[in-house]
Amino acid sequence: MTLEEKLGQMSQTPFPSAMSDKFKEELRKGRWGSFLNGGTLQQKAEAQRIALKESRLGIPILYGQDVIHGFDTIFPIPLGSAATWDADLVRQAARVAAREASAAGIHWTFSPMMDIARDPRWGRIAECLGEDPYLAGVLAAAMIRGYQGDKLDAVDSIAACAKHYVGYGAAEGGRDYNTTWIPENLLREVYLKPFEAARRAGVATYMSAFNSLNGVPTSANEFTLKQVLRNEWGFDGFVVSDYESVRELIPHGFAADEADAARRAIRAGVDMEMVSTTYFRHAKSLLDAQQIDMKQLDDAARNILRVKYRLGLFDGRVQPTAPRPATPPAEFLDIARRLARESLVLLKNTNSALPLNKSVGKVAVIGPLANSVVDQLGTWTLGGNRSAVRTPLTAIREQLGEQRVKWSPGLRNSRDTSHEGFADAVKAASASDTVLLFLGEEQSLSGEASSRAYLNLPGGQEELVAEIAKTGKPLIVVIMAGRPLTFHDVAEKAAAVLYAWHPGTMGGPAIADVLFGAEAPSGRLPVTFPRTVGQVPIYYNHMSTGRPASETGPGAANKFTSKYLDAGFTPEYPFGYGLSYTSFSYSTPKLSAATIALGASIKVSAEVTNTGKYPATEIVQLYTRQLSASTTRPVRELRDFRRLLLKPGEKQAVEFTLNAAGLAFFNPQGKWAAEPGTIHVWISPDSASGQPAVFELTR
Ligand code: NOJ
Repeated sequence: MTLEEKLGQMSQTPFPSAMSDKFKEELRKGRWGSFLNGGTLQQKAEAQRIALKESRLGIPILYGQDVIHGFDTIFPIPLGSAATWDADLVRQAARVAAREASAAGIHWTFSPMMDIARDPRWGRIAECLGEDPYLAGVLAAAMIRGYQGDKLDAVDSIAACAKHYVGYGAAEGGRDYNTTWIPENLLREVYLKPFEAARRAGVATYMSAFNSLNGVPTSANEFTLKQVLRNEWGFDGFVVSDYESVRELIPHGFAADEADAARRAIRAGVDMEMVSTTYFRHAKSLLDAQQIDMKQLDDAARNILRVKYRLGLFDGRVQPTAPRPATPPAEFLDIARRLARESLVLLKNTNSALPLNKSVGKVAVIGPLANSVVDQLGTWTLGGNRSAVRTPLTAIREQLGEQRVKWSPGLRNSRDTSHEGFADAVKAASASDTVLLFLGEEQSLSGEASSRAYLNLPGGQEELVAEIAKTGKPLIVVIMAGRPLTFHDVAEKAAAVLYAWHPGTMGGPAIADVLFGAEAPSGRLPVTFPRTVGQVPIYYNHMSTGRPASETGPGAANKFTSKYLDAGFTPEYPFGYGLSYTSFSYSTPKLSAATIALGASIKVSAEVTNTGKYPATEIVQLYTRQLSASTTRPVRELRDFRRLLLKPGEKQAVEFTLNAAGLAFFNPQGKWAAEPGTIHVWISPDSASGQPAVFELTR
């Protein structure tokens, strides 16, 4: 390959709006190895034909796209999918996305995103899989298996991309693109964990991130890209930069100019440059000046070509031209409905206000999110079949019949502050037996570059609720949002609160299924919900302190503990939390031994009983804590979980195996090792309850 051909492979740009002669000439010269987003089926097929037949080496083009939570069929936003804790269903959804996207000529998705986020101000928390590294890793691996299928070169498989490598979710103050400072033990134990799970799942590519990490931007970070990803994990696919993140090394205050940016990114091992063009324009002079060497370019081009081979692009993988069906098939919509249903988290349900009986009488459907197609799809829906979307209003009308449903939006959108619609909404509420309020955030308030300093329901929504509450009708609140919001006062006024995230194409029917009791809610929070934005960051797997706050015992009365005078230390809702229409009881966990040696394993079991009247799925969670060690350990860490479907009255034993090696952490000597000590272990319904069993880990 000539230098230009290698650099072409290392370059990615948006697909142009037209197939100009200039563009065709570039294709013949091998100027671009990959395109992101855009291009019609025909354009993509024609460009591929030129690359294969009319370029000197006939190297195929790799088409990448942001297929983040579905393509035609849109699934819940990733944070909502994470609330299902259902790896197999998450895998099935990714498989559907791969089938639809591959039929649209796409070979590669920039998903899954597995950034750990502990700050709901950050708008991209919507795109991540929550705050826990284990859960995020399990779900990211499931998505990768779904996208990549059994064989990456099958026509309906697409390559996955683990992003944003790494630490992007720790942006200071939740401000997007911001600085991150993450000590190596935290980086390895939390932020890198899901990326390592992605590696084990065979992810084809990684995306370097926008943020600087401990002073070194992640798109030029030799430690994360070379030491960890290549040397320790043995990754042999390729790394793509994020959008212009190579050129952005300059405003970071890291690279002096574009040539310097190219030099630093190439040397660190960013194989493909997205959108900015520093590689193509400066690599030759950098080579001449011996600032980079040919081996670095060879390695990068080879990594990219290897993935193209693995995708079957050299072996006649057909670039599709047939249009896709106008409506997604029922099978895909069914998976979307199930995933949306399982993503719903019941946060409050006073006196079994839910499920609603179908003889509920008249129902008022109120709120800006009840019938907003775009907003229920959520962030990042480049495709997204709009006509297939079914809103809560549509679904509720179908369930109850038009006559029994009074609809009044109250507000034009979630940010609307005008009270113009209030009178009509109050009228609808007064004329009904029950009020269903659909509140939350519109699509554009979460996702990239959508950080918020306030976490409350935006616009006039709280005032709307206050007005409706005056009618004295029972209020059922459904919140559709891209992040954990703070809505304490609204919840106080409501009989029930159901958190629905942005639930995607089938969000309406899924919500109706749960509201009317076709299925009990089983979603559990993949992220901590603060009481107020001032508590952020607040996350369950935090360290203790020398003065831990406590709700009970002598500590509770002690002022000199770690807490806020005005907001305490506990969240509004803890990680792992979620109610059901039934109740579950847990026995105290039993251990197979009182002591185990490092290197051995122990069995932990408990009995879980459905003590209520509904068949329902419980998500049984296994946590541990090590009480003393050579570094402080989190107060709880999720180790495993299991989904259990129990009939009323049914009891099941759940048994987990804990390997001592799995309790290893990154010690002050810079090594992963388990240490002797006392271990607490919980089998519990969330991260904040349950009684631990205790065992000793010994040498
Ligand atoms: C920037 C985003 O950070 C990234 O997630 C996305 O994949 C790229 N743009 C491409 O659109």
